[in-house]
Amino acid sequence: MAEPRNRYSTVSLVLHWGIAALVLAQVCLITLHEGAPDGAPDPYIGWHKSVGLSILVLTLVRVGWRLMNPALPAPPGTPTWEKVAARTVHVLFYVLLIAMPMTGWLASSAGGREIEWFGLFPWPLLPVEGGREAARSLMGLHGLVMKGLYVLIALHVLAALKHQFLDRDNVLHRMIPIIPRRP
Ligand code: HEM
Ligand code: HEM
Repeated sequence: MAEPRNRYSTVSLVLHWGIAALVLAQVCLITLHEGAPDGAPDPYIGWHKSVGLSILVLTLVRVGWRLMNPALPAPPGTPTWEKVAARTVHVLFYVLLIAMPMTGWLASSAGGREIEWFGLFPWPLLPVEGGREAARSLMGLHGLVMKGLYVLIALHVLAALKHQFLDRDNVLHRMIPIIPRRP
């Protein structure tokens, strides 16, 4: 019988931590954009759009990868409610990681704001009617989705800490392999 895998594959680790770092970068870029004095150069919103669209592409790649590579099983003895909660949070993560850039892209498209991907090439706009009014509503949705993402991140990090310090299992080790594996 094949040995059960005791950590995620390198591709899964790079996608998990790469996307997490880019989400953090998005919040930093928006903070810099909001703090930029009027009239001062503000490259941040352009970078925010380019990073956000990269997150969209990486998340689609990740969903494809995940469908071909099942998640590791929960540690033996994990109660059903915990398995259901973890699965729900993970599925919602994928939904929101797509909804977040999509609402931004749709808003920019409705407002007719051109997007240049890191100044390298024009990113196509979507055919959205409604002009500035629609752009404003979509931006409202963008902010709302972010609130949902914050809730998921908080629950997810608390769950990871519970595994590490209360359950004392290897769930965190398999996503952060430099953390020593418990026997
Ligand atoms: C923006 C930040 C983050 C996002 C979007 C995110 C998203 C995800 C997703 C979608 C999965 C499920 C993978 C699958 O489909 O099987 C996952 C797994 C995992 N994440 Fe995160 N994550 C983030 C941050 C973190 C942080 C900060 C930690 C550690 C403190 C962490 C620890 C883990 C662990 C241990 C797993 C594996 C769970 C298991 O094996 O059942 N994540 N994450
Ligand atoms: C996962 C990807 C993304 C994350 C995490 C993210 C996050 C955020 C956050 C936290 C805000 C501030 C919201 C508020 O203050 O209510 C924001 C605003 C904004 N985002 Fe995103 N975003 C992402 C993708 C995108 C994309 C792809 C675009 C456009 C192509 C975009 C365009 C904007 C714009 C135009 C604003 C408003 C900035 C302003 O106040 O002038 N975002 N985003």
